[in-house]
Amino acid sequence: MEHTTTTAPAPTPALGFPEKLMPIGGVWVPSSTGTTITVSNPATEQPIAEVPSATVQDGLAALDAACSAQDAWAATPARERADILARTYQGIIDRRDEFAALITAEMGKTLPEAQAEVDYGAGFFRWFAESAGRLHLEGQYGLEPGGNYRIAVSKRPVGPALLITPWNFPLAMGARKIAPALAAGCTTVLKPAELTPLTSLLLAQVMEEAGVPAGVVNVITTNDSRGVVGAIMADPRIRKISFTGSTQVGRALLRQAAENVMNTSMELGGNAPLIVFDDADLDQAVDGAIVAKLRNGGQSCVGANRIYLQSGIAEQFTQRFTEKMAATRVGDGAEPGVELGPLVDAKQVASVSALVTDAVAKGATLLTGGTIQEGAGYYYPPTVLTNIPADADIRTEEIFGPVAAIYTFDTEDEAITEANDTPYGLASYVFTQNLSRALRVADAIEAGMTGINRGLVSNPAAPFGGTNQSGLHREGGTEGLDAYQETKYTGIQL
Ligand code: SIN
Repeated sequence: MEHTTTTAPAPTPALGFPEKLMPIGGVWVPSSTGTTITVSNPATEQPIAEVPSATVQDGLAALDAACSAQDAWAATPARERADILARTYQGIIDRRDEFAALITAEMGKTLPEAQAEVDYGAGFFRWFAESAGRLHLEGQYGLEPGGNYRIAVSKRPVGPALLITPWNFPLAMGARKIAPALAAGCTTVLKPAELTPLTSLLLAQVMEEAGVPAGVVNVITTNDSRGVVGAIMADPRIRKISFTGSTQVGRALLRQAAENVMNTSMELGGNAPLIVFDDADLDQAVDGAIVAKLRNGGQSCVGANRIYLQSGIAEQFTQRFTEKMAATRVGDGAEPGVELGPLVDAKQVASVSALVTDAVAKGATLLTGGTIQEGAGYYYPPTVLTNIPADADIRTEEIFGPVAAIYTFDTEDEAITEANDTPYGLASYVFTQNLSRALRVADAIEAGMTGINRGLVSNPAAPFGGTNQSGLHREGGTEGLDAYQETKYTGIQL
C-alpha cells in the first residue's frame, strides 16, 4: 500500500449556507439552546464547521412546519413540483465542485468519488422531476366485474415524511428520499447523520434557490437523534418514515412506527456476495470486484462483503485482485491521484480492524494490508484475507471498510447456498460469460439487486433495496415514487 502524506491539510471548503443555522419553515434558525455540533474532516481530524444541535423542541418545530406546508404542497400542480425538482437538479450540477469538496471534507471519500456522488445524487432530482409531471395521469377507471358500478383508483401523497440518512453518501441518500417525496406531494423533515450534515444543509440552500416553498424541506441536525426522532415519531401527524442505516436501528424505528401505524421504507444492512465462476472474463471480474469492494472505501451497504471464487480461477483471481488492492493509493481524498480516502471516524476504523484481527487470530491468511498507520486521519489500508475459518466474525458481519474476504467453491449449487447463507439480502454480484448461468444464479440468490458482470448497480432509474432483513420497499425507479403515495379507491354509482 502506498500512503500519501499531505504536507498541509487541504483548505476548508466554502459552506455555501449560513453556519450554525438550519432551515425550519423557510427560516434558517439556530438550535433553541444555542448548542452546536462540530463537524471534522476524517482525513485530518481537524474541525471544518459547526452546525446546530437540534433539540426535541426544534424537531417538533420542523414537524409543525412540514405539517403546515403539507396541504398547499400536495395541491401544487405536479408540473410546478416537477419544475422545482428540475431546477434543483441543475442547481446541484452548477455547484458540482462545491458539493464534491464538501462531501470529501466531511466524509473522506476521494474527490472523483464525491463528484460521482454529486452526479448520482442530482440524478434522483432529474429522474423524479421526469416522473412527477405524469403522476396524476396514472390510475384506473372502469366497471367492476359484476357491471354494477365504476371503480376509480388514484394516488395521493402519504403525508409529511421523516427522512433519516446515513453518513456514507451525504448527498445521494438525502436526494433519493427528498426528490420522490416532493414529487409525490409530501413535505419533509430531513435528519442527516451527525457526522456529515453539511452537504444536506447545502442541498437545502440549493432547493430554496430552486423555489421550494417554506416548510416543504426542513433540515434538523442533531446529536440527540434518539430523543428528537422519538419525539417526531410519537406525533401522529408524521405519516412516513424513510430510513437508511443499520438493521438494528431500522428494527427500533419499525417498532416506533407501529405505534401510529406509519408508512415505512427501510434500507438496511447488507452482506453482499460476489461470485466469480471459472468461465468469467477475469479482467472484468477483477475490475468489478475492486469497484464493488473499494467504492466509498468499502463503506457501502452494497459493498462486496464476501467474494466467492470458483476453484479453477481462484488462485489467478486472488493474485491479480490482491496486487490491485495493494497498489491502491491511500491518502487525503482531496489530494489528486488518491484512490482511497480515510474511513469516516475512529469508531469505523476500530470496527473494521477488529474484524481483521479476529479473523487472523482464528487462522485466516492476510495477503495484504491489515496494519493501521500512525498519524492523523482515520485510515485503514486495502486488505485481503483468505482461508477464513468458519467461526470468524467477518463471515457474518457487514465489514463496511476496504477489507476483502475471499472464499472458494466448486459447484454452482455450493455458491448459491453460500451466498444465501445470511439473513440479509440487499446486493449481490455474479461474474460469468455463460448467460444461462448468470440468469439462473441471479434468480436463485435472495437479494433485492444483482449485478451481472458489473460491480456497481446503483442508478436513480432502478429500484434500490433489499429483501429479508435488508429492508422494506424500494428507492429510485418507479417504485421510489410509490413509497410516498397511498392508493385511493372510489366506488362510483352512476
Ligand atoms: C448505501 O450504501 O447505503 C447506498 C449505496 C448506493 O446507493 O449505491
